[in-house]
Amino acid sequence: MPLDNRIAICPGTFDPITNGHLDVIGRSSAMYDTVIVAIVNHPWRKGGTLFTVQERIEFVRGATAELPNVEVETFSTLLVDFAREKGAMAIVKGLRAISDFEYELEMHQLNRRQAPEIESVYLMASPKYSFLRSSGVKELATFGGDIDGLVPEAVARHLKDRLRR
Ligand code: PNS
Repeated sequence: MPLDNRIAICPGTFDPITNGHLDVIGRSSAMYDTVIVAIVNHPWRKGGTLFTVQERIEFVRGATAELPNVEVETFSTLLVDFAREKGAMAIVKGLRAISDFEYELEMHQLNRRQAPEIESVYLMASPKYSFLRSSGVKELATFGGDIDGLVPEAVARHLKDRLRR
């Protein structure tokens, strides 16, 4: 499939989606005609996920329902192969801090080596989300911390329910 510069992929594990992810997805949806949120579906990766892929899809679908040009899909291949399959010319990710930069530089080099025709585009995190990551939210929820405003409401409810058990 020829690559289309109007299609972008926003990839991630999204375990679960946070308001920081949503910020990047929303900003991407204003830049591209079609944004495909690509949820990693590798059960063996990073010791597994708290939420199943179906739950993660539902959270992302619910949170992006107001964005008509955003689609939600899963992938279990290399990210660049998924982007090629979808005809996406860009992979859009958020960058929060220097710590993200090192990891993302590595991912960028690896992806670019596999598929030089696909560009990675980085959006700087909005300051209010620059500290936010899914693992931090899960840790807060585990110990009864306040997670309101960090994740969509439906996600907050499920997190409290799942982690308090
Ligand atoms: O930080 P995340 O959410 O776990 O990132 C997931 C993803 C897919 C964006 C990141 O692992 C990446 O950029 N991977 C590129 C290498 C690849 O294709 N790996 C296979 C899919 S995990």
